[in-house]
Amino acid sequence: MLYNFDEIIERRNTNAMSTDGFREYIFNAPQEMKFPFADDEFIRMWIADMEFATPPEVIQAIKDRTEKRIFGYTKIFDPEYYNIFSKWTKKHYDWTFPKEHLVTSNGIIPALYELIDHICKPNEKVLILTPSYAFFKYAADFNNIETVCSDLINKNGNYEMNFDDIEMKAKDEKVSLCIFCNPHNPTGRVWTEKELKKVGEICLDNGLWIISDEIHCDLLRTEFKHTPMSKLFPDSDKIITCMAPSKTFNLAGLMISNIIIPEKKLREKWYKRHFSMENPLSVAAAQAAYEHGDEWVRQLKIYLDENFEFTRQYLEKNLPKAVFKIPEATYLAWINVQSYLPEDIDIPLYFANNVGVLLEGGNMFVANSDGYIRLNLACPRTILEEGLKRICTFLNK
Ligand SMILES: Cc1ncc(COP(=O)(O)O)c(C=O)c1O
Repeated sequence: MLYNFDEIIERRNTNAMSTDGFREYIFNAPQEMKFPFADDEFIRMWIADMEFATPPEVIQAIKDRTEKRIFGYTKIFDPEYYNIFSKWTKKHYDWTFPKEHLVTSNGIIPALYELIDHICKPNEKVLILTPSYAFFKYAADFNNIETVCSDLINKNGNYEMNFDDIEMKAKDEKVSLCIFCNPHNPTGRVWTEKELKKVGEICLDNGLWIISDEIHCDLLRTEFKHTPMSKLFPDSDKIITCMAPSKTFNLAGLMISNIIIPEKKLREKWYKRHFSMENPLSVAAAQAAYEHGDEWVRQLKIYLDENFEFTRQYLEKNLPKAVFKIPEATYLAWINVQSYLPEDIDIPLYFANNVGVLLEGGNMFVANSDGYIRLNLACPRTILEEGLKRICTFLNK
């Protein structure tokens, strides 16, 4: 079956963050905030969900579950959930884990908030690599835990870890946890096994726990392969792996994610504090996605590869001073447009007001992100083209 990623799907009146939540999320502003553009005139390239329909196989599974007509309290008891998900991890990353290590959460963000509380004692610190997905810091802030940042090194769009700096920071005995993003949002790096081993060894040798947030692990450019951090350290029980069907199959609103916690004591703490149950429709959807979604993801990745190539060519021609390299993973383009920007601007506001494009950028990524915009390319090509056209025409003026 050929899936159609060119279809434009109307999302307004669905309470979508993408269409209705941008004032609050990007601008920290009330719904009354006014722009020179009407809401339906915006090109939305910000929040990391997709403009594509969820696979029809998943929608069918949700429909089938609704036929049961009762949606009472639900938890995952049926071993099929584990069997299907671990079959997916085995097939795609040649890695699996014991059933008892798997817990579910309503999202990776809520899991981070809980896990930091379980792992870090007061006065301890969390290490993150910057630029960073901001919720790594917010989750630490919420728990009154200080964040220590290690800037990635950017060599002309190629990002690398600064291992000396990471080691120096990991040696601080107050640093007890590293929240690591694999593959990395926003730079799109797929860390090599060598890099993963090196950073993993630094952390573990210095007594740090690692939360490896692998939410983007299924959406790699077609020539890349994902390596779970945990796979490289089979004897360690200090690495927690976070995966989810949310990014892969565009199911973020169903709020189900897989957290793999090998350490028994930590799991016990988790179970004591983790109050929420599961949404029965989400369980059905996640299971169907991992069982039947393979071909859909294969086609999606080809479409995303083409969107990235389209963007590369468009920028090369129309925005030559921008620094952009097709990311190895994610559907997010991380573009340095510093040389086109005036000083001291709020980057997302600048683009929203001047060109009607909603994007993320600059200090939304904690540190080491000045002059960058992050564009979500998981949209039909016609939308992508219009977004790029607006941005490039304006910046060239
Ligand atoms: C690295 C990373 N972690 C977590 C999330 C969100 O996770 P969830 O929706 O499961 O809470 C995102 C969403 O963009 C992300 O990029």
